[in-house]
Amino acid sequence: MKNKIEGVLSFSGDKSISHRAALFAGIRRGISVFENFNPNKDCMATLFCLRSLGVEWQLEGHKLTVRGRHPNDWKKPDNHLDARNSGTTTRLLSGILATRAFESQIDGDISLRQRPMGRIIDPLTEMGAKIKSSDKKLPLHFYPAPKMKGINYRLPVASAQVKSCILLAGLFSDGPTRVIEKIPTRDHTERMLRLPLYNRDGNRIIESSAKQIIPDLSMTIPGDISSASFFIAAALLLKGSALTIKNVSLNPTRSGILNILKQMGAPIEIEETNSFPEPSGNIFIKYSSLNNIRIQGAIIPNIIDEIPILALIATQSEGRFELRDAKELRFKESDRIRAIVDNLRQLGVNIDEYDDGFAINGPQKLKGGRIETHRDHRIAMTFAIAGLLTRSEIILDDDSCIGVSFPGFYDALKKVLTNE
Ligand code: S3P
Repeated sequence: MKNKIEGVLSFSGDKSISHRAALFAGIRRGISVFENFNPNKDCMATLFCLRSLGVEWQLEGHKLTVRGRHPNDWKKPDNHLDARNSGTTTRLLSGILATRAFESQIDGDISLRQRPMGRIIDPLTEMGAKIKSSDKKLPLHFYPAPKMKGINYRLPVASAQVKSCILLAGLFSDGPTRVIEKIPTRDHTERMLRLPLYNRDGNRIIESSAKQIIPDLSMTIPGDISSASFFIAAALLLKGSALTIKNVSLNPTRSGILNILKQMGAPIEIEETNSFPEPSGNIFIKYSSLNNIRIQGAIIPNIIDEIPILALIATQSEGRFELRDAKELRFKESDRIRAIVDNLRQLGVNIDEYDDGFAINGPQKLKGGRIETHRDHRIAMTFAIAGLLTRSEIILDDDSCIGVSFPGFYDALKKVLTNE
């Protein structure tokens, strides 16, 4: 039986943009309407937190209508806010909670409770926030901070969540806040809020202040490129495949996966159809043999969520694949370096692990086996795609986590997968 991918797919709205759409609309007085909002578990966590804070919204299918209010008119939540599995909900919302005149608490699931929050606690505290936590992990307890002041903050880790957290706090603080990033990270926050930015001495500097007027945010959210990457991989790896992906995000701070795959020899055609406020368009992909490359440096934040599926592609490509400078992977929904290395070894792959990455000499034949997803959606989807490549079965211990980012994953796969 030979699997191949054929047809046309479009994807639910980009997860990073959907979170921001909900949250930014929540702090803007008036009504905002979003088409193609992603109602996955992560983005729903953001929406339910907003409801607990007094922001009204309505979701009909993928159409989200938010009736926002200035955070001064938000209400103190009755209970702790539950970010579930979502780092983006936690870190972005914390930027606003830290500036409120009411007490609040944010918590999450076991995985989120293990993730580092010092990276937001430290700069927010420098701005005047009063935050209590144990070991700089969730739950975080916010106390009223009488006077928050803007700061200049050089990002010590390349993180769009940290950048966005500080910029959001800057909207409700005295004086300007400037975030300085050496390595560019996804820029949805500054694009959507139209924040002033400039380049100096090789750094990107983004500003926010209480003077910032939040623009009309209503938009059709482009499809999620990270969800699409699992299908791009399947089309590249399964002989005879040809796939069209419509209306997907082509934001240059997110589309690194397409550039990397092109460098590896993938026949990917891109047609940009929209540029504002977020670039988007169509992608055409066909099966092809690929050559491995070495990846490191500034490209890493741009492909950070696509590295698990890239690892799978590397096992099927010719030559040595080496990925470095990606230690951040150890602090995601799971330790993704460990999860990639252990699970690929489970399928018979010879892979070297580094503190900040891994290396694979390809191509290598995959065998069936049992996969520990660590309840990490991107690990689960990566190995669900691996299962299309093997004769004997690949069994995922728990794939219920897929709904965190992509509840329709198996339906989309059914739509384009054919067996001969
Ligand atoms: C995200 C930023 C990235 C990414 C995550 C979503 C965002 O995390 O991995 O899936 O929406 O800002 P970091 O900012 O921690 O790198």
